[in-house]
Amino acid sequence: MEFFVDTADLDEIRESYSWGIVNGVTTNPSLIKKAVDKLNASGSGQSIASYIESILQTAGEDPVSLEVIGATEEDMVRQGLFLYERFNPVAGNVVVKIPVNPDMEGQGRGAFDGLKAIKQLADRGIPVNVTLVFTPEQALLAAKAGAAYVSPFAGRIDDDLRKTAGLKFGKTDYYAEEGEADRHDNGIVSGVDLVSRCVDILGMQGYDCCKVLAASLRNPRQVRECALVGAQVATIPFDVLSAMASHKKTVEGMKAFTADIVPEYARLFD
Ligand code: E4P
Repeated sequence: MEFFVDTADLDEIRESYSWGIVNGVTTNPSLIKKAVDKLNASGSGQSIASYIESILQTAGEDPVSLEVIGATEEDMVRQGLFLYERFNPVAGNVVVKIPVNPDMEGQGRGAFDGLKAIKQLADRGIPVNVTLVFTPEQALLAAKAGAAYVSPFAGRIDDDLRKTAGLKFGKTDYYAEEGEADRHDNGIVSGVDLVSRCVDILGMQGYDCCKVLAASLRNPRQVRECALVGAQVATIPFDVLSAMASHKKTVEGMKAFTADIVPEYARLFD
């Protein structure tokens, strides 16, 4: 499984790359906002364009998703082309992120603009990551339109199921759907279930060129379960990636081994 780091914070990207386990980066307008706020607070004076260039260089040849901000086919295609033409020459690793359905009124107007934009960009050879996927059928549509990645949002589905059920929960709490078969969103019982069904549907239908990129992950257990259901990629926030290396027994074991080091053994390393 490939691990992408889900952040636009250059410090987090650099640090997580130094661990040797990161294969790409995803950003979205909210993550860019956080990074820009931090950049402005630092008073560094670096422009957002040169900041993005630093992200692309840090990722080397690994894919970096940059999202469009428009909500019509025309705007998304124009912005996708701009992002690709302006930034891909830096390191050859730009992936354009397009929402599967940009219809903000929920009235169906423009509902296919996302798919039309995906098709236009994909036809030009531009890799597209399709975002805000909440159903396997959206994933199938995106793959048919030519997406290189589809991003099912696991955490937000779990949030929604718990909110609808009136449950109290913390942002990083794992959601276990066991025994809750009547709690579902159009048949999807959890975020991991959504990811699993996206993997199944694209696999069964032969869309092997489109990777399922599990997104909106909130805790290490979700990453584990997305790996177990065969998602090819997980995009993971920095804090969740950090938490994946931790276990209380590992800490305890390190302390015990360290306490047992005898001088004769230590001298071997001098
Ligand atoms: C990444 O591609 C997504 O935009 C991101 O994972 C969304 O995460 P969130 O639901 O925690 O905002």
